[in-house]
Amino acid sequence: MAIRIDGKALAARVKEQVRAEAAELPRKPGLAVILVGENPASKVYVNGKEKDCAECGIESFPHKLPAETTQEALLELIRALNADPAVDGILCQLPLPEHLDGDAVINAIVPDKDVDCFHPFNVGRMSIGQPVFLPCTPAGVMEMLRAYDIPVRGRRCVVLGRSNIVGKPMAMLLTQADGTVTVCHSRTEGLAEITRQADILVSAIGKTDFVTAGMVKEGAVVIDVAMNRNAEGRLCGDVDFAAVEPKASYITPVPGGVGPMTRALLMRNILTAARSHQL
Ligand code: GUN
Repeated sequence: MAIRIDGKALAARVKEQVRAEAAELPRKPGLAVILVGENPASKVYVNGKEKDCAECGIESFPHKLPAETTQEALLELIRALNADPAVDGILCQLPLPEHLDGDAVINAIVPDKDVDCFHPFNVGRMSIGQPVFLPCTPAGVMEMLRAYDIPVRGRRCVVLGRSNIVGKPMAMLLTQADGTVTVCHSRTEGLAEITRQADILVSAIGKTDFVTAGMVKEGAVVIDVAMNRNAEGRLCGDVDFAAVEPKASYITPVPGGVGPMTRALLMRNILTAARSHQL
């Protein structure tokens, strides 16, 4: 039976450390959170981030804008936040309403306030091993592996999903930790054959029960990044947890696994940004 990786407990430790270090700074770190429209999942995420900020002694500046907000108005807000010395980090919750250009918004955030690590400058820095910020979800996964003394060096890692937010940076960080990494996605042929070779399997597909026991090697480490709702509306990941848990050596639950770590690593990025602004 697998050991369950307790993301909630680890995240509490990271946040406590951030709180202690933030308290030493000359002024409170600040995060501007932009939410456009009424996406219910986004509202939940943004509320969670504001709560984390409060717990860590970080000031949050909410900007809740109507769904009809124009691109120009959004860019104008970002320009103002870029110039605001009380704001160390800027987070624009994605996805944006259809008529808005998310890439242009990300590009408009000054890289030293890009605490999501979505800006091409920061993605580039990370990809050559000179990170300013680390992307929150992949960095949270790496932190979990370290905390449980799970080695990456030389091991076969399979990442399911190739998104800019999770799959691609996850593959990069595992490669930098000397893992042998394969990225699979919706067009991959012979998927189960590949996933069965994984010592470390990271799933970020977004489909309930996508990862079955037959896709997992005996003793594998299984990390479930997804946040889906099943038919009954319950929060769940990509992994058929009940079937995979007996086969894995370590496994992350959903909820209580990667999610809290993503949020905690955001807090750490805000602290990093605040330090660089308050030197
Ligand atoms: N939407 C889903 N995850 C994220 C995230 O980590 N950051 C932002 N800005 N939007 C998201």
